[in-house]
Amino acid sequence: MTRPIRDSKVPDQLTASAWFQTAIRLVDDLELHDTVTATHTWRVILYTRALAEDAGLDRDIVELLSIGAALHDVGKLDIDGGILRKPGRLTDQEFDTVRAHTTLGEARVLDAGITDPLIRQMVRSHHERLDASGYPDNLAGENIPRPALYFGVIDSYDAMTSRRPYSTDLREDAEDRAIEELLSLRGEKYCPDAVERFARMHERGDLDWIARHFNEDSPRYQMELPGSDSSRG
Ligand SMILES: [Fe+2]
Repeated sequence: MTRPIRDSKVPDQLTASAWFQTAIRLVDDLELHDTVTATHTWRVILYTRALAEDAGLDRDIVELLSIGAALHDVGKLDIDGGILRKPGRLTDQEFDTVRAHTTLGEARVLDAGITDPLIRQMVRSHHERLDASGYPDNLAGENIPRPALYFGVIDSYDAMTSRRPYSTDLREDAEDRAIEELLSLRGEKYCPDAVERFARMHERGDLDWIARHFNEDSPRYQMELPGSDSSRG
């Protein structure tokens, strides 16, 4: 399996920086802790890059967003793997534990000396939603940092289109259904600009290769996932 961050043409000044190397180590740790989170992480890095490049963002910003995507779930290192891999519904208490990965992740990032606000925002606020139904701060609308709001669309799309311990029954048309759901909730929960751009990219087939190459069926990630229902986000 290729390693998107290492294999991509990251500017030398970024790869040489201490915090970038720390970020790579954190993702390696995450991969050892929870394979499902690891494959999800690689996919969302690539979706993030694709979306940011499609939006014509500057190269340096694309790299920062990619690192933010790589680190967004790093707080799961502090969550018991048994809860992360648990099939079926979580108890309310377990949900609270999982939700804490946002604030725990921010603490880890800061501990590692990563202070870039864009990365911090993505780690802490990627589960916030426009209608204030998200976490950890129940932020609403424009109070949600924009990088986190954009990334929330990508993170949700991947959750809807990939197998998880609690959701292994993926339908053939999972991608189309995910786009439909995101479109139906744009402006209510999800950033309309991000959803519409992502939907256009899906329509053009620009995203297909990512899910095909980075999933639990890759030889590196051969594993059995117990089946169940529900959605955990
Ligand atoms: Fe998350």
